[in-house]
Amino acid sequence: MTLNIWNVLAKLEDRSKLERSGKVVVSREEMMLAITYETGLFFNIFLKAMKAKRALEIGTSTGYSSLWLIEALLQNTVANKQEKPSSSRGLITIENDPMKLEKASYNFSEAGVSDKIDIMEGNALECLRRISGTLDNHELFDFVFIDADKENLKGYFDLVLPIIRVGGVIATDNVLYPTDYRPIMTSFIEYIRAKPNVQSVTVPIGHGEEITTKCR
Ligand SMILES: C[S@@+](CC[C@H](N)C(=O)[O-])C[C@H]1O[C@@H](n2cnc3c(N)ncnc32)[C@H](O)[C@@H]1O
Repeated sequence: MTLNIWNVLAKLEDRSKLERSGKVVVSREEMMLAITYETGLFFNIFLKAMKAKRALEIGTSTGYSSLWLIEALLQNTVANKQEKPSSSRGLITIENDPMKLEKASYNFSEAGVSDKIDIMEGNALECLRRISGTLDNHELFDFVFIDADKENLKGYFDLVLPIIRVGGVIATDNVLYPTDYRPIMTSFIEYIRAKPNVQSVTVPIGHGEEITTKCR
């Protein structure tokens, strides 16, 4: 199964590179807007080091970042065979664009991980409220990746913080690039760093990742 994940990641990586190079003309709706290869690898290593089992993603697009996350979660589950498998799947990913989800579902199927990923279709704020309302304490997330619209970032963060475990991590994409986002990202960073129960740092990888951990 892992081999399939790497193959699909390589295919999507090629497409993403073409999109970024401007060599192919892609309409805004068709764009993957994916994280970079280095960011995917960084998250993959990070999740393995954390021994993460449960992750949540806001902004699936065509599933490129989801595949980096699920590969690590599956490796961690294999490494802990003695643990009882969780009743829920390892990764929940949220997306409101049905066309993107159709492509993501195809990619998950090709990678052989359709049964490992829960896709939630809909507005991210509403989906997060639904998750918060139904989550048991033992199902708290180890890792959350925020990569959707930037207007609702503070709202996403406030809904996510109570549903990650202490020591869990929230990664937020695009804190450095594109530079048009800088004002909104600066305001977001000031907002989260003022919270008493988090530590947060900007990692200059890919489009810039804000890495935040819940301390208590
Ligand atoms: C930057 S792309 C995600 C890229 C993906 N994480 C990756 O690296 O492969 C952002 C995605 O968030 C989705 N999105 C934007 N606003 C949303 C919202 N309010 N609710 C749910 N999804 C949203 C967009 O449709 C888009 O597919």
